[in-house]
Amino acid sequence: MSRKDIKDPSGKVVMQVVEYDGFQFPIRLIGDIVEQLKQLNDMPFTNSDVCVVSYPKSGTNWCYEVVGMLRNKSSEYHDKMPPLLEMFPIEKLKQVPDGIYASHLTPRHMPKDFMAKKCKIIHIYRNPKDVCVSFFNFIKKTKAGELMKDMEFDVFFDMYITGQLSRGSWAGYVKEWTNFQEENPSYPLLNLCYEDMKKDLKAHVNKVADFLELDTSDELISEIANKCEFKAMSAYKNSNVPASLSMMTDVKDKHILYRKGKSGDWKNWLKVAQSEAVDASVEEAKIPLEIKYT
Ligand code: A3P
Repeated sequence: MSRKDIKDPSGKVVMQVVEYDGFQFPIRLIGDIVEQLKQLNDMPFTNSDVCVVSYPKSGTNWCYEVVGMLRNKSSEYHDKMPPLLEMFPIEKLKQVPDGIYASHLTPRHMPKDFMAKKCKIIHIYRNPKDVCVSFFNFIKKTKAGELMKDMEFDVFFDMYITGQLSRGSWAGYVKEWTNFQEENPSYPLLNLCYEDMKKDLKAHVNKVADFLELDTSDELISEIANKCEFKAMSAYKNSNVPASLSMMTDVKDKHILYRKGKSGDWKNWLKVAQSEAVDASVEEAKIPLEIKYT
């Protein structure tokens, strides 16, 4: 484990991270990741626990909301932030009442007992061009990214495509999960595609209910799908900003996790060469998932 300053091309420090086992974790948000991972490995889980995993900005909060509503058999929104395994204090994680977690960890860093018990995992992935745009707009509003406030998109893009950001490269992250699935075909892991969810949310709510082996009425599935459409969900979240969001941001008047909620916004941001660089990185990684750019 070592501390590292991430610098932009001009040499300015833009983020401080802890480097551990091939990944970079922002100090400002996560603190001592090595101790956190150790404590996560000692934490007991139950067979019915479930975790939504993703590369940041892939629709984690959206998917978490769907899972929570299904498991709690209610279309009421969550008013709290999803309990992120690598970020929440262990004592708080132990008190999560519904056993639903979220994480941006890769399989090798997931808690031992969670994996040994084969607790269900839902991996949501999104096309890496929109992830980059969402990440750029998000990071500037967070405390971890306060030194990136004035950064140009082109500079951010170079850092993204070269895997210098906190969770490494998109392709590297997603590939770890797809490799894990290939090596552990019996592990209960569901891949969800953000763009497919946008196209037909009700079908995906149904898919998640089946995966979680829940007997949910068609009426509740429809209600959940309606409540989790971006317009309704972002309106609610923006008028009910959880106090705990203040650990992440100084923005108080709106919820920084809900921006546009669209597929294809990258076309307004990426240059042709940047788009091609993403294509090349995805091709090189040979990711066995269909990635949809519109
Ligand atoms: P944008 O920045 O492109 O709007 P995460 O939860 O992993 O941080 O992902 C955040 C992204 O998911 C943001 O993307 C956010 O707007 C989008 N999102 C959140 N809720 C959504 C919903 N109900 N439908 C579609 N996209 C949603």
